[in-house]
Amino acid sequence: MNNDIAKVLLDETQIAAVVDGIAEKINKDYKNEELVVVGILKGSIMFLADMFRRLEVSCSLDFMAASSYGSSAVSSGKVTIEKDLSSDIKGKHVLVVEDILDTGNTLSYIKDYLKEKEPLSVKICTLFDKPSRRQKPINPDYVGRTIPDLFIVGYGLDYNEKYRNLSYIGVLKPEIYS
Ligand code: IMP
Ligand code: MG
Repeated sequence: MNNDIAKVLLDETQIAAVVDGIAEKINKDYKNEELVVVGILKGSIMFLADMFRRLEVSCSLDFMAASSYGSSAVSSGKVTIEKDLSSDIKGKHVLVVEDILDTGNTLSYIKDYLKEKEPLSVKICTLFDKPSRRQKPINPDYVGRTIPDLFIVGYGLDYNEKYRNLSYIGVLKPEIYS
C-alpha cells in the first residue's frame, strides 16, 4: 500500500463488509420491484461494480456524469451534466449510486433533474457521506460510512483524477492538496 499519499481509512476487507451491508438493505427494500441503478461517473465505478454484483433484484444499469468540482478539492457549487441517461426512467424505481455526498450540490441537482423524468421513485445510495459540509438539504437513503470533513481517495475516489486505482480508501495527506 502506498502510505506516502494517504492514511488508510478502510482496507479491502472493510470495504467489502460495507458494500455487503448496503446491498443487503437494497435487496430487502426492492424485493419484487424493478430497479434502474444509475451510477454517477466516475467516482462510483468500483463501489457500483461491487455492489451491483450483490444485487438479487431485477435491475438494469445506466450512467450519468456531472461535474461540480473543477480541479480543486473545493466544490464550485455549479453543476453541469456531462453525460445523460441512455434509458427512459419514466414509471421506474431509480437508485442513484454515488461515491461521496459532500456539499450535496451534485446530488440535489441530479435528483431534481431525474424527478422531471417522472420516475416512480428516486433514492440515493452513497458509499460516503460528509454531512458537516452540506449546503443543500439532501439526505442519502443508503450510506456506507458517515465521515468528518476529510478528503479521501481510492476505490474510485480521486484527487485531480489521481488515486482512483488504489484498492483501499485513504485520507489524503494535507501536504498533497494544500
Ligand atoms: P458535492 O456536490 O459537494 O456533494 O460533491 C460531490 C462530489 O465531490 C463527489 O462525487 C466527489 O467527486 C467529490 N468529492 C467530495 N468529497 C470528496 C473526497 O473527500 N474525495 C474525493 N472526491 C470528493
Ligand atoms: Mg464523483
